[in-house]
Amino acid sequence: MNKQEKINQSQVFLTNMGIEAGAVGIILGTGVGDLIDQIQIEREIPYSAIPHFPKPTMEFHKGRLIYGSLENNKVVIFEGRFHAYEGLSYFEITYPVRLMHAMGAQQLIISNAAGAINLAFKKGEVMLIEDHINLQAGSPLAEKGIEELGERFVDMSAPYSPKLIRKAKSIAQRNNFALHAGVYAAVTGPQLETKAEYRYLKIIGVDAVGMSTVPEVIVANQLKMECIAFSVLTDLCDPQNLAPINIEDIMASAKKAEQSLIIIVKELLSTQKK
Ligand code: HPA
Repeated sequence: MNKQEKINQSQVFLTNMGIEAGAVGIILGTGVGDLIDQIQIEREIPYSAIPHFPKPTMEFHKGRLIYGSLENNKVVIFEGRFHAYEGLSYFEITYPVRLMHAMGAQQLIISNAAGAINLAFKKGEVMLIEDHINLQAGSPLAEKGIEELGERFVDMSAPYSPKLIRKAKSIAQRNNFALHAGVYAAVTGPQLETKAEYRYLKIIGVDAVGMSTVPEVIVANQLKMECIAFSVLTDLCDPQNLAPINIEDIMASAKKAEQSLIIIVKELLSTQKK
């Protein structure tokens, strides 16, 4: 079975489960699940029930699709994402994006946890991703059979929607909280960076570093979806003063940032139809 046939079968399954076409797609990263509490949930489907859907390997990522309403918009939320460091193919990592697109989604909202390379940022704050650098070992478009799914030489001159970026900035201003903006670099991981790597990231113009999001955004651009992405800043990457970090600390900082993120996503959706 080819890639498109797999996606089609997953899509037919979700349509038969009652998920209507055209919802806004959302992918939630580490530690930012509270947004789900705001949804009027209509369907909750474990990833394991969806034909051809990749198998999650991360115990702290729930691995479920949630469909419902938020601010009068239908949303389809993928809670729990796939990472290159899980040893998955980029087709598997980006499967949720291809599937939501097959379901008619034209917009993608992404969140992730990231380390702050820009030391003007603080733990527990949010950075709007304005641009990115792909430092992972591969591309989701460098695979056999990719041409059946869209063009190969995808333009990446504005991968994050300028219109959605403007909206998000004005939401933060209106609600009086800090929303940083900057460049996100995706590394493969799963090991964290050395001091030398943090110095390197600063020199090349990175503001935040993480292990996700870029593959999904590349595929969303191949599919001509409008994207917006946010990093919740979970640790400071100061090579002069590098404290060992642990995953519990990352989760606690993500929780702090989550409230701002919830406000932005809700208001982005509430102005959607205006
Ligand atoms: N580096 C890479 N990924 C991360 C980090 C980091 O410092 N913090 C959270 N995700």
